[in-house]
Amino acid sequence: MAYETLIVEIRDGVAVVTVNRPDKLNALSDRTMEDLDRAFASLQDDPAVRGVILTGSGEKAFVAGADIGELATQSPLEGRERSVRGQRVLDRIESLGKPVIAAVNGFALGGGCELAMACHVRVASEGARLGTPEVKLGIMCGYGGTQRLPRIVGKGRALEMLLTGEMVDAQEALRIGLVNRVVPKDKLLAEAEGLLRKMLANGPVSLNFTLAAVNDGLEMPLDEAQRAEATLFGLICSTGDMKEGTKAFLEKRPAKFQGR
Ligand code: COA
Repeated sequence: MAYETLIVEIRDGVAVVTVNRPDKLNALSDRTMEDLDRAFASLQDDPAVRGVILTGSGEKAFVAGADIGELATQSPLEGRERSVRGQRVLDRIESLGKPVIAAVNGFALGGGCELAMACHVRVASEGARLGTPEVKLGIMCGYGGTQRLPRIVGKGRALEMLLTGEMVDAQEALRIGLVNRVVPKDKLLAEAEGLLRKMLANGPVSLNFTLAAVNDGLEMPLDEAQRAEATLFGLICSTGDMKEGTKAFLEKRPAKFQGR
C-alpha cells in the first residue's frame, strides 16, 4: 500500500514505518495522521507482520509535533475533532496487539513525543531531544500526552515537562524513564530491531496477551486488573504455544511457536 507521507517496509516479520516529511521535520499533518491510521490498521491485519518499528526520515527529527500551520487556523470544534482523531490514531498504535518500538532519531516534540509514548518501548539516538512545547504556542497536548506522560515518568516529572515546555536530552529522558535505551545514531535502527526480534522470538500469543494485560490493566482497579490477568492466563493455557513452550523447555530444545 502506498502512502503520501509514510514509507512502510516489511522484512522478515518486522515492519519499519518511517514518517516521511523531512522538510517539515516530519510534522504530523492531517494527511500524516490519516496515513498512520491506515498503515497501522493494515499492519494489525497482516499476519506476516509480527512487530513494528516507527521512526522519522532525515537527520534531524523523529517528529517535531503536530503541523503548526494546520493548528494555527483551527476553530474550537475543529480543534476538538483533531484531538479526538489524533487520540484514536495513537490508541490504535498502542493497542496494535504486536510490539511497537519507537526509534527516536532526533526531535520528538509535542505530537511527536505523544506518538513515541503511544509506542510500547522507546529507543533514542544520542542527539535526540524530547518534549511537550505546546504551552509555548498557547495550546496544550491533545493526543493523549497529558495522560501518557505522567503514566510513564510520574506526575511531578510530567508536569515539569508539560508546564515548562522545555525539552529533555536523550540522557535525561533515559534517567526519567521516558526512553528505554540511548545509542549512537548510526546504531539506532539496528538496536531497535535487535530488541524487537528478541521479543518476537517469544510466543506471539504471549506477547499479545501481555500487551493487553498491561495496557488494559493499568486503566482498571488492581483487583479487576488481576482478575483480567488470571482470565488471560487461563486462556493462554489452551494454546499450542503454551504446550510447545513448556514441552521444549523440558526437552531442552528451543521452542517453535505457531502463534496459536
Ligand atoms: N509544524 C510545522 N512545521 C514545522 C514544525 C511543526 N511542528 N516543526 C518544524 N517545522 C518546519 C519549520 O517551519 C521549517 O519549515 P520551513 O523550512 O518551511 O520554514 C522546517 O520544519 C525546519 O524547521 P526549523 O525550525 O527551521 O529547524 P530548526 O533546526 O531551526 O529548529 C525545532 C528545530 C524542532 C527546534 C523547531 O523546528 C521547532 O521548534 N519546531 C516546533 C516544535 C513544536 O512546537 N512542536 C509542537 C507542535 S504542537
